[in-house]
Amino acid sequence: MAIVLGIESSCDETAAALVAIGGPDDADDDRRIIAQRIASQDAEHAPYGGVVPEIAARAHAERVTPLVKAVLEDAGLALSDLDAIAATAGPGLIGGVMVGLVSAKALAMATDVPLIAINHLEGHALSPRLADPELDFPYALLLVSGGHCQILRVDGVGRYTRLATTIDDALGEAFDKTAKILSLGYPGGPAVEKLALQGDPNAVKLPRPLVGSGEPHFSFAGLKSAVMRAKDAQAGSKGVAYSDADIAASFQQAAIECVTDRLRIALDTMPDIPALVVAGGVAANAAMRSALGDFASARGIGFSAPPMALCTDNAAMIAWAGCERLGQSDPLDIMARPRWPL
Ligand code: KG4
Ligand code: ZN
Repeated sequence: MAIVLGIESSCDETAAALVAIGGPDDADDDRRIIAQRIASQDAEHAPYGGVVPEIAARAHAERVTPLVKAVLEDAGLALSDLDAIAATAGPGLIGGVMVGLVSAKALAMATDVPLIAINHLEGHALSPRLADPELDFPYALLLVSGGHCQILRVDGVGRYTRLATTIDDALGEAFDKTAKILSLGYPGGPAVEKLALQGDPNAVKLPRPLVGSGEPHFSFAGLKSAVMRAKDAQAGSKGVAYSDADIAASFQQAAIECVTDRLRIALDTMPDIPALVVAGGVAANAAMRSALGDFASARGIGFSAPPMALCTDNAAMIAWAGCERLGQSDPLDIMARPRWPL
């Protein structure tokens, strides 16, 4: 059995987790989260309507070491029990990434345990395999978070081919901006999803940017502008008969239709792919998950999504990526990278 500590600090969640792979006799492929803690900074950033990098970096610095201590105590383990220390090394807000990575370096140096520098996007990309040991490579991956919106072909650990990306906003960003227009606060995705439950998805006519285009890329800026116009029209004229819930539901429906149309184009180029996987913060959206599950079953391929708690940023996915990369040992002078494509 191997135990990996994971540290995540690339955006506004400070997180530490311990993940184990292999059973007591090392023969089985058991995978489990032994302990995990996440300290959200939502309250610090909420007054600004988005993440303030300087505030984030300071909050990570304050919290990361106590969180590592806490997960070890939760698990009844010591640093000497670790087989590797995995930390997000990018991409993300550089101040925060540096805090987590430098903490991991210090622990690795003090314990002589290997350091594994993890690409945050790889953490998301491999996260479904932590909870679903049946999920084998290759798979098509829809990676949808606050900063990223991509379709990838995943052939193995470190073997990623990007088929599509966004030409403007990421999908999570579109949810967050819609939340802001509807004064739902930050973070916006869960709030839009909740309000959409009470609305009519056909009430407001919204565009489906790039739907029908032959390339599988995404665009959400036009959808966001249309949401803004819909909100203005609602405020400006007495005759408009839709509610904020209708706007939220119509936005979510448009987003889902964009995503499935883009996936259809991308999957047509991978006729051999046996499964579709969704990961990243927006994968926590139940309507999106269910639409993607239906889409995959209509195409006769498998579908996998991580448990809700592993969709948004967490350290278990970083520890798990470390498990997938056991044997790797990165130098202690490895740099944090604000940009790091998969
Ligand atoms: O993966 P993540 O935690 O951080 C990044 O790496 O960006 O994703 C955060 C994003 C935010 O934009 C948030 O609004 C969105 O994921 N999100 C959701 C939901 N939960 C989180 N979007 C739609 N519905 C949700 N339930
Ligand atoms: Zn993320």
